[in-house]
Amino acid sequence: MKRLLYLFVLILFCGSLFAQESPIIIETQNTALVYKTDRQNKLVQVYFGQKLNDAEEYNKLFSMNEAYVPAGMDNLHEPALRILHNDGNPSLSLKFDGVEISKVDENVSVTQIILKDDVYPVDVKLFFKAFKNEDVIETWTEIQHNEKKPVVLTHFASSMLQFDKRDYWLTQFHGDWNKEMLMQESQLTSGIKVIDSKLGTRANKFQAPMFFLSMNEPSTETEGEVVAATLAWTGNFKFSFEITPTNTLRVISGMNPYASEYHLKPNDVFKTPEFIYTYSFNGKGQASRNLHKWAQKYQVLDGEGERLTLLNNWEATYFDFNEDRLVELFDGAQKLGVDLFLLDDGWFANKYPRNSDRAGLGDWQENKEKLPHRIGYLVEQAEKKGIRFGIWIEPEMVNPKSELYENHPDWILKLPNRPEHYSRNQLVLDMANPEVQTFVFDVVDQMLTKHPEIGFIKWDCNREMTNEYSQYLGENQSHIYIDYVKGFYKVMEDLREKYPELPIMLCSGGGGRTDYGAMKYFTEFWPSDNTDAYDRIFIQWAYSYFFPANTICNHITSMGDQSLKFRTDVAMMDKMGYDIRVEEFTEEELAFSQQALKDYDRLKDVIWFGDMYRLISPYEESRAALMYVNESKEKAVFFCFDIYTYRENITNPVKFQGLDPDKKYEVKEINVQQGRRFGPFMGPGGDNNVFSGDYLMKVGYNVRGGRGDMSSHVYEISVLE
Ligand code: DGJ
Repeated sequence: MKRLLYLFVLILFCGSLFAQESPIIIETQNTALVYKTDRQNKLVQVYFGQKLNDAEEYNKLFSMNEAYVPAGMDNLHEPALRILHNDGNPSLSLKFDGVEISKVDENVSVTQIILKDDVYPVDVKLFFKAFKNEDVIETWTEIQHNEKKPVVLTHFASSMLQFDKRDYWLTQFHGDWNKEMLMQESQLTSGIKVIDSKLGTRANKFQAPMFFLSMNEPSTETEGEVVAATLAWTGNFKFSFEITPTNTLRVISGMNPYASEYHLKPNDVFKTPEFIYTYSFNGKGQASRNLHKWAQKYQVLDGEGERLTLLNNWEATYFDFNEDRLVELFDGAQKLGVDLFLLDDGWFANKYPRNSDRAGLGDWQENKEKLPHRIGYLVEQAEKKGIRFGIWIEPEMVNPKSELYENHPDWILKLPNRPEHYSRNQLVLDMANPEVQTFVFDVVDQMLTKHPEIGFIKWDCNREMTNEYSQYLGENQSHIYIDYVKGFYKVMEDLREKYPELPIMLCSGGGGRTDYGAMKYFTEFWPSDNTDAYDRIFIQWAYSYFFPANTICNHITSMGDQSLKFRTDVAMMDKMGYDIRVEEFTEEELAFSQQALKDYDRLKDVIWFGDMYRLISPYEESRAALMYVNESKEKAVFFCFDIYTYRENITNPVKFQGLDPDKKYEVKEINVQQGRRFGPFMGPGGDNNVFSGDYLMKVGYNVRGGRGDMSSHVYEISVLE
């Protein structure tokens, strides 16, 4: 619907053609990205920075940085685009041919800059969608030609941005399974730094598809010029940062061209994924808040809508359950007071039952031994207990021990003349093949048609591509990385047309799929299989830079040895849920959790939709502190975690942000375990926990420290009427 409206508006406003002499200004509330043409009529990027008060002054800007540099002519650095023409000529010379600006609404406008080769019939259109209030720009490129036969694209960036600063500092996020999103910052040096992935089915694992780029010096949460950026693509990505001899930084971003030469047919449009960025002049905190607002309003499915709290059974049972055990677990969900029970892996397949990860994947029929009365019975039982029922699937994958493998060997990505290569004992289905797309669609559609009461899906994808070969693509093997993701999007597009609202969690063996390309179709994502609350602070901290709280699922589990309170406080930072044996809770633990859920329900709107302020980073101190403040500044939630403060004895107050200095606030601890003291340790006001916003932001709040182990506190901050 959103898309239709956009098209309609585009048609209405299209065609305001600019003279090529005047600068092309892409503005948001605080930033401006400005292009001009040079004497050869090439497009140059003359500016990206703080918006000027007087737009006339953009005329004074000058630069020789070609905006979107093609390969093959006079370029000596990394190109944005490279094409091999029908006659074997590997060059492109792009000249400015026009600009169209369309206003979607008061907040959003799209600028389309048209470039054409002066000899070969190739058009390149650069798109910039500017979101004014959020200070976010989305960029993508469309490439089209009408040569006689397909041309070959070997490089196809979504964006090329250039900066002229003294120094550049890059913050990247790396990791592995169970260790997602570790932050690393380094100064860029001459030459090229590349961050990329070649995983095929996902973007994130060893390197994450997002970064911060700080200008001149490292930015902090509140100070410094910094660009936060990410690519909306669920496959191979590449960001390259090249400092040229004139100290210009070229940032080229897009799908990874690795092994992906694309044969583009005449008149077909090759559209690259959106590269999304925001430029903050007040540090990383502002950059995150910009992205959060943009994502909730424009990108994430139902980003401003409700979310269900749930009890999952993965860590509680793994594959070891049956119908009776599940119904028992429903009791736990009911006692806790969550909205939904989520049945995880292990419920399907009969010839090769899914009792471990070695068999059954692909055979999406209920296992008759475990579930003699099938899913319908589970849905019914859940409803009787006042909760909804959700289910796990991994429809893009197959175990060699499955009927699907036996019946459709041609649907599987595997090399001829080579042994199959397994990861988690499974293989990847060929999502480039329309028959496979139909199969995947049907897995979901048939389940939802049979059980329309299903209230939630967790969509998993547990392995990357290796030894891949598509029997469908034939000679176009180099299309597999791109066509796989397009096939996945096609299925999601079709599913969303039929089931526009069903909440679906995006999961990929932990946090393998954490990108805004997929988040158009999903309501939330699973950040990591590591649910140890100590590690989770770092993982969630890192995701919070780029994703809003209501998209990040945190489950309270039995992993790690922290107290239930600590685990609950950590999970409450974003979208809280459970994956634990509730029947093993003591009475006190159950009462604590029930109360925590009630408080969460009361405060979740502040956590999900409030402005997030990261106050103390666990990367800098042995504690972490953050807060959310709602729009009216009348409610806030403050989290503080002491993590191994034993030798440091940190007692200095934590300074708040985002409050109204003129308002008076009451600070009240929640998630307090029975019998424990609460309130501030040596609080500045003693038992009087009322302070002005001014005081809390200038003096700060004294949080009781840990006693050598880990401790945590959550406070509700409410304005006094
Ligand atoms: C990987 C996911 O990250 C887990 O949460 C769980 O769903 C398993 N897959 C199930 O196989």
